[in-house]
Amino acid sequence: MSETARRLEPAERQLAPAEADATAQSQRLVSRIAEEIDAAGGWIPFDRFMQRALYEPGLGYYAAKPSKIGPLGDFVTAPEISPLFARALAAQVAQAFEHLPRRLLEFGAGSGALAAELTAQLERLGAPPESYGIVEVSADLKGVQRARLGERMSDTRVQWLDAPPEAFEGVIIANEVLDVMPVKVFVKRGGSTLERGIVAQQGRLQMTERPAGSGLCEAVAHIEAAVGPLPDGYASEVGLVAQAWTATLGQWLRRGVALLVDYGFPRHEYYHPQRAMGTLMCHFRHRAHDDPLWLPGLNDITAHVDFTAIAQAARSAALEVLGYTSQARFLLDCGLLELMREAPGSAAANTAALRLLSEAEMGELLKVVAVGRGVPGPLRGFASGDRTHRLG
Ligand SMILES: C[S@@+](CC[C@H](N)C(=O)[O-])C[C@H]1O[C@@H](n2cnc3c(N)ncnc32)[C@H](O)[C@@H]1O
Repeated sequence: MSETARRLEPAERQLAPAEADATAQSQRLVSRIAEEIDAAGGWIPFDRFMQRALYEPGLGYYAAKPSKIGPLGDFVTAPEISPLFARALAAQVAQAFEHLPRRLLEFGAGSGALAAELTAQLERLGAPPESYGIVEVSADLKGVQRARLGERMSDTRVQWLDAPPEAFEGVIIANEVLDVMPVKVFVKRGGSTLERGIVAQQGRLQMTERPAGSGLCEAVAHIEAAVGPLPDGYASEVGLVAQAWTATLGQWLRRGVALLVDYGFPRHEYYHPQRAMGTLMCHFRHRAHDDPLWLPGLNDITAHVDFTAIAQAARSAALEVLGYTSQARFLLDCGLLELMREAPGSAAANTAALRLLSEAEMGELLKVVAVGRGVPGPLRGFASGDRTHRLG
């Protein structure tokens, strides 16, 4: 998804009458969420709402909405924009394969574009993966992936797994997956930490605040201990699910590296006083807006990643942080410009590739963090631009 997408203004937030089916589907999801709110005593926290809005079987955005990714969908990602993303990433994977079993495991493989191109490039480099596992929560996207990868990767063992293996050695990839994991939303008022959540009034969902529980208070106190007291009215998110996900890597990654690519910043930039409205963002037909309660199930909902928290979660699980840098620096260190010179593309293809590097767009907004264990030597993608020290 692109943070630079044009904004969808409130007056434009309506669907055409011909899209009544989509509206009805969203309404069914709202009714189910409203039932849960009633059963929970009148309020659910935002992270629970986000979980259902994105992943509710048959109705959530990733579970049910067709054509999410790409020109006809709601957002584009780096592997969709240019095959050079996967080809550059392959250089890093090939280097890691010199010391590891040639096994790949991708989380949230979207349309399968990254898997297809990464495997093709690894074959060209003489380092084809022995196996390519995909962990995908979206049944709908699994179907898209099977259709795309089934034939192309017939000689590589592509497998869809319901959960990570109990023990894994190899390379893990997750591109724009952490930013769609549910977040808690807090706001500071009068020195206290409040949590945003959802109430239902006559079937309509509304956002309200109530005193935060001890877990969120502790997480916010931990943030304030690092960045200083947050001002009154300051609202932001805490990605506890992404942190827990990273910590569980420490349990099943026996030897290898996880390359996690996402929108985000180190903690002191994430919780900067000027970012007082947080980073929560929705995407609908390549337009961005900030109302997650508008047509749940039809909009993507994302929040940036606090990479300091991800590094801390990894270290607490006895994993090493092996590198952290911007997407642009990572791709350049992996030889993206050389790849462009080797196989000159059309003007449009070059413009697309340069978008991956653009400081104003994906090049600087997206970051790459590598965490793992038992991987010798510096990783190529962080050779000249490693910013691990900025994670604290
Ligand atoms: C924004 S899309 C990115 C897709 C793809 N990686 C790309 O770059 O085009 C997020 C993907 O992550 C998947 N996803 C979300 N949470 C996940 C989880 N906990 N485990 C595995 N996949 C997940 C979604 O279903 C979707 O495929």
